[in-house]
Amino acid sequence: MVYLTRREYFNGAHKLYKADWSPEKNVEVFGKCANKHFHGHNFDVFVTVKGNPDPDTGFVINAHALSKIMKREIVERLDHKNFNLDVPEFKNIMGTSENVAIQIWKWVEPHLEGCQLHCVKLVETENIYVEYFGEEK
Ligand code: NI
Repeated sequence: MVYLTRREYFNGAHKLYKADWSPEKNVEVFGKCANKHFHGHNFDVFVTVKGNPDPDTGFVINAHALSKIMKREIVERLDHKNFNLDVPEFKNIMGTSENVAIQIWKWVEPHLEGCQLHCVKLVETENIYVEYFGEEK
C-alpha cells in the first residue's frame, strides 16, 4: 500500500456566527472569526490517496488526474468565494475548516478510481490545520 498526496490551494472568506446567539456569545466563542464583515484565509488542501501501484503505470493515481479532480471539485467551488454566501453546502452548516474538510471528502471521493481516499488535510493558518480520514465517529 502506497500513499500519495497532492496539494492545491485556494482562498476563501467565512464568518463563524450563530444567528440565534447574542453578539456577545458569538464573540466569546468565535472571537475574531465572528467579525460581521467576514474574513479570509489562504487555504492549502492536501488530498492523500492510498493503493497499490498499477502494474502498467507504476502509479497509485495519476497525480495530474488527481490535480484535475481537486481543481474541479474543490478549487472551482471555493476559491475566491464567501463560504457562507456563495457555497450552498455551508448555508446551514458552519464553514469551519473541520466542516470544509468533511465536505471536500464528499466532493472528491466519488471521483477516485483504482485507489481509496485516505485523508483530506486542510491548512487554515501556519498554526492550524485539520485532517479528516472519513471517520464518522
Ligand atoms: Ni476564520
